[in-house]
Amino acid sequence: MLAILVRWNRRVNVNTENLSGLLLGWWAENGRHDLPWQRNPTGYRVWVAEIMLQQTQVATVERYYNRFMQSFPDITTLAAASQDNVLHHWSGLGYYSRARNMHKVAQTVVARHDSEFPDDLESLIELPGIGRSTAGAILALAFRQRQPILDGNAKRVLARVFAVEGWSGSTANMKCLWELAEKCTPERRVDNYTQAIMDMGATLCTRSRPLCTACPLAGCCAAYAQGLVAEIPAPKPKKTRPRRSTTLVMAINSAGELLLEKRPPSGIWGGLWSFPELDSSDVITDWCTQTFGAPPTIQRTWPDVSHSFSHFDLDMTPVEVAIEAQPGQVMEGDRWLWYNTRSPATVGLASPVAKIINAVGGEQEIKSGDQL
Ligand code: ADE
Repeated sequence: MLAILVRWNRRVNVNTENLSGLLLGWWAENGRHDLPWQRNPTGYRVWVAEIMLQQTQVATVERYYNRFMQSFPDITTLAAASQDNVLHHWSGLGYYSRARNMHKVAQTVVARHDSEFPDDLESLIELPGIGRSTAGAILALAFRQRQPILDGNAKRVLARVFAVEGWSGSTANMKCLWELAEKCTPERRVDNYTQAIMDMGATLCTRSRPLCTACPLAGCCAAYAQGLVAEIPAPKPKKTRPRRSTTLVMAINSAGELLLEKRPPSGIWGGLWSFPELDSSDVITDWCTQTFGAPPTIQRTWPDVSHSFSHFDLDMTPVEVAIEAQPGQVMEGDRWLWYNTRSPATVGLASPVAKIINAVGGEQEIKSGDQL
């Protein structure tokens, strides 16, 4: 995949080597050069900034960063602080697990790394809150190690330049984009390049309304050449909720009791009582004959009702069947129950079933399409 993309992009004149040169040239004139964490960029200072920036805009982080650094100028001070105090300094930034993780990281670095902020990938990604891209940013920006990053901004820039179609978060695209990120990251000026690709994604190569006419990569951007900038990257696919359908048999005996069946312990309505279910109402007559020894005397189809589960929607067609079974005619085992709506047994009912039973008793009317 990567080889094809890189070969194709040679034709529009980009390759993984000249991308960094173009980006660095643009960044010198147009990039961000005086962010607080760019001054004296130690591992600790860059880490604090990168964690704050994970879910928060630069302008907001700038307001919090200096105050945080004044109170916790180094990792030992942060490790020794109370969690309440750390959270107090985070107050308003949101996503507080970031602050709790930072506090834990500080204590781990003091205890296990002799208070020295780690400068290798393996140690960094073991620490809570530091993923592969954050680790790459810390290593590149603070330690000038040639390490790729793939935050949201870098992902978008690379996906467009190399026309990686589809959602950037898919496993296949992530693999391809990491390979491209790795290939594009230069040996020299890796700190500037890392800042440049983030700045480019944040200011020019934005998700909506990218400023392609001002972009130094326009001449070598495969998405631009193919008129695909608006389509790349594609949004995360929305999961379509599957719909299933089932037939509920409401078998009523000569005493007016309803037959219920206990559901298996796991799965939907696990362990609750429900109407027997069939795949289709076509098989009801056969089912009654097999189950009760005779076909139903009356059969009436009720309006469909539906119910939403976390992963799917269920359309249910209740079919009422009158059968000649006697009240005492018990089906085997503890799987079956003749349910008397006037003196109901104290059993757990699946909620749509409870509503349908109320409707049988005349307490509630069921209309077609009701969401139960
Ligand atoms: N977003 C994440 N890291 C950043 C950084 N170092 N500068 C600007 N924006 C960022």
